[in-house]
Amino acid sequence: MPATDVTPSTPSVTSAPEHGRRREATPRRLLMCRPSHYGVVYSINPWMHPDKPCDTGLALAQWEELRRLYTSLGHTVDVIDPIPGLPDMVFAANGATVVDGKVLGARFRHAERTAEGPAYLSWFREQGFEDFLWPEFINEGEGDYLLVGRRLLAGTGFRTDPRSHAEAQEFFGVPVTGLTLVNPRHYHLDTALSVLSEDEIMYYPDAFSPGSRSVLAEMFPDAILASPEDAAVFGLNAFSDGYNVVLPQAATGLAAQLRERGFNPVGVDLSELLKAGGSAKCCTLELRSAQAPRASV
Ligand code: ARG
Repeated sequence: MPATDVTPSTPSVTSAPEHGRRREATPRRLLMCRPSHYGVVYSINPWMHPDKPCDTGLALAQWEELRRLYTSLGHTVDVIDPIPGLPDMVFAANGATVVDGKVLGARFRHAERTAEGPAYLSWFREQGFEDFLWPEFINEGEGDYLLVGRRLLAGTGFRTDPRSHAEAQEFFGVPVTGLTLVNPRHYHLDTALSVLSEDEIMYYPDAFSPGSRSVLAEMFPDAILASPEDAAVFGLNAFSDGYNVVLPQAATGLAAQLRERGFNPVGVDLSELLKAGGSAKCCTLELRSAQAPRASV
């Protein structure tokens, strides 16, 4: 996977001042799952065609490249052991949602993936995370929950039950804004919207219901909007550290828009994982630790 524009490994790289806003990469702790048992053996979204060939060896190589890239950008990558019989476990983003060191477990919509929820939660337990919630309602982790600053944007429509949004708000104590997805090719929020910084996002308007589109336009009037072409190659399935934005390399229009805003787009090729309807962000779960308590005034 030829990654373009890879910035050397200093975590605090900033963009050139001529780009207006100063960009700063902050090092993140990420969780990934090697696709050792990956394959497209069932179909739970329109990208998945079990009858078409899928190369697990190539998927492994592409995934290793993504992991190396994160490390080279200064991030810490933890890995969870893949489990035979759970081919989609590579999509770590779906394994949980972690905010302030608190872990909301994932409860999957499809029987094919339900065993992943407890598997991820056990990993968190073993790692010493203490504050958990095993959810009452279906939610597919960071596939549908994306943190922007101190607010969670929350997808629904295909996977996550809208009742989960109130459950997440109560558990994390941050405001949750529900957004309804309407296009089955963008069945998770992280396939239609990506968080770039504490207050910036990019998204594909056509993936959302009219009401949700209005909400997004009101909350993020300056957001980068993806073209149908960039959305179709999963360009919004991106991971940003505040400066470097790792995204599918085919999303050249988004890369150009990101560069204009002073971000550093880094293209990756995850063709084999796309056959299951996933890309860079789907393979990546951010482990956000507890915030330092605010100094009292
Ligand atoms: N095949 C998986 C599914 O349909 C892909 C999950 C992609 N993950 C994501 N965070 N969007 O559930």
